Amino acid sequence: MNQNDMIQRLITAGQEHLAAHYDTLSAAEQETFLRQLASLDLTLPAYAVGENNNTRGTFSPLQAVTAEEAREDRAFHEALGLAAIRRGEVAAVLLAGGQGTRLGYDAPKGFFNVGITREMSLFSLHFANIARHAAAAGRSIPFLIMTSKFNHEQTADFLRQHEYFGYPAEDVILFPQEMAVCTDFEGKILLARRGVIAESPNGNGGWFGSIEKAGLLPELQRRGVKWLNVFSVDNALQQIADPGFIGAVLAKGCESGAKVVAKADPDERVGILCLEDGRPSIVEYYEATEEMRTLRDANGSLQYRYGVILNYLFSMERLPAVRDVRLPVHRAAKKIPYMDANGEIVTPTEPNGYKYETLALDMVRLQSNCLPYEVLREKEFAPIKNKEGADSPVTARALLEGAGFVL
Ligand code: UTP
Repeated sequence: MNQNDMIQRLITAGQEHLAAHYDTLSAAEQETFLRQLASLDLTLPAYAVGENNNTRGTFSPLQAVTAEEAREDRAFHEALGLAAIRRGEVAAVLLAGGQGTRLGYDAPKGFFNVGITREMSLFSLHFANIARHAAAAGRSIPFLIMTSKFNHEQTADFLRQHEYFGYPAEDVILFPQEMAVCTDFEGKILLARRGVIAESPNGNGGWFGSIEKAGLLPELQRRGVKWLNVFSVDNALQQIADPGFIGAVLAKGCESGAKVVAKADPDERVGILCLEDGRPSIVEYYEATEEMRTLRDANGSLQYRYGVILNYLFSMERLPAVRDVRLPVHRAAKKIPYMDANGEIVTPTEPNGYKYETLALDMVRLQSNCLPYEVLREKEFAPIKNKEGADSPVTARALLEGAGFVL
């Protein structure tokens, strides 16, 4: 992008204030600025004002493979799943590009030590888990890890230093996700400092686009990968490339699957997997209507009872077809440090603007079908989101100990 293109682009996007700032930069700073600008999506600030692009349809409940059914069919499903892994058809995608602001932990979340008497990072648990399923199948599973510009080098160094926890290095593939601009509440793009636009990772919905941008699709095709198991870094009991889950999705002939837990109570803060206009869909807890939260069936069970735990299986065949569909953009009010008009760096104590994200859960709406696969939270769901209270290191450690881990 040259200077004239840049100015035109900024004017079209209503961001002329950045062009004025550009004139104050040295030639080298201008070059860096142009490069950063070219990598960013300037249509996002429009979501600061008005509605987002997330209009909803009519919802109805969706039945899951219950934990009991999964247990009964486990041997059959596992055999199917292990055979798919053995054929090289399954890869895992760990989403580790988040900033973990609620946990307030300085390093990337995967470094977080859940051990008490020994070192046990979240990354070490994930590597041990995928290695176990790879060993059962007798074939290594490609392990993709999404980082962000903010934690890529640190993550790469950490994994190298730990020698990938014994996993084959050639099967560990790191790729950085794309970034998104940060704006004030009117949608004006903020500067982090002189010559640098304030930006944040573009949300976990960016994973497939980022795989493609990193040039990894041909590599996955070359390896014959047909299924991607996508999951979050912050569940200490995460089951990766679980052959039972993979086998169930294959046995039912579905094009995607989602691990779910039965909601502990109507107000639990998990996204609900259901149908929307007859297609699979996930409704965030804050978007659920009163009826969705509380409606019960004749047995007294919640009708919308399955919450997602950010562990999905997607078919590689389907993903390219949906990649050009714009996912809903979610804006979140945050405290964003910025450079003011006098060139001073301001560190706000209250939210002063928006970060913009797309979410992996919205990809489920683009699938023709999605198999909800119920798992038991005491075996598979120990999220670490907050510093204390619910979903914190304390609750996760208790769940790990309950599952037999010696911490
Ligand atoms: P969360 O939505 O919990 O976000 O991420 P977070 O950034 O980790 O934490 P908070 O909200 O700032 O406290 C769920 C999963 O998605 C990944 C996270 O690393 C985590 O595994 N994620 C999130 C990304 O990979 N990229 C993003 O831009 C956001």
